[in-house]
Amino acid sequence: MPAMLIAGNWKMHKAAGETIEFCTALRAAVEGLDGVEIVVCPPYTSLDEAVRTLAGSEIHVFAQNAHWEPEGAFTGEVSAPMLAELGVVGSLVAHSERRQLFAETNESAARRIAGVLDAGLRVIACVGETEQEREAGETEAVLTRQVEAIRGAVENDDVHRLTIAYEPVWAIGTGRTATPEQAEEAHALIRSLFDVPVLYGGSVKPDNASVLLSQPDVDGALVGGASLDVEPFAAICRAGAEAAAAA
Ligand code: PGA
Repeated sequence: MPAMLIAGNWKMHKAAGETIEFCTALRAAVEGLDGVEIVVCPPYTSLDEAVRTLAGSEIHVFAQNAHWEPEGAFTGEVSAPMLAELGVVGSLVAHSERRQLFAETNESAARRIAGVLDAGLRVIACVGETEQEREAGETEAVLTRQVEAIRGAVENDDVHRLTIAYEPVWAIGTGRTATPEQAEEAHALIRSLFDVPVLYGGSVKPDNASVLLSQPDVDGALVGGASLDVEPFAAICRAGAEAAAAA
């Protein structure tokens, strides 16, 4: 039975105190859930508390970004070995907010992915088209370029530590999700280019999670807004466990 991965991307939310409270409650809420791997991605300053509070549980902690060099003169950046020392097991890379607001490119994303994998950590690499690109009929070309850049950064021995998240930019934080058919079509394309697990992201909520997660090429979800409260996030994790059991 393939395990589903449900990851919560907190973005710039939850300082250390709130992190301890949230992680304590999440542990209790998802205890004993089978067939689903649960990940939280707190901001850097809350990673240590998240790791400590979740120690001994099945919930893993990822960062939201990491630099490609292990150390150096890169003011304001954090490296993958620094994250590993905290007990963080992976990082998101190239989230669309990094691409749109912080000048992340396919080239810089590829360097980050290689750096994180070199440090022995896992990567969830994000791809997705903007609304303009979809309307111009460019979805396939955009996703192909993004996925090829990711594939070029991964050595064969490290492929098992890579997951891709398909997040159509027009669905992030908007309450609009891709239809299950649109998601499945994009996931199947991504998987034909690079055969790794593919998560769906973009306005995943408890009431749409089951139908999205039951698509054959959807291996989990990357959840933003609905991951900030324990109950909706736990409900999406339960939907993941049910989808895994039905697969
Ligand atoms: P959302 O965010 O669930 O709030 O749309 C998803 C993401 O940005 O990863």
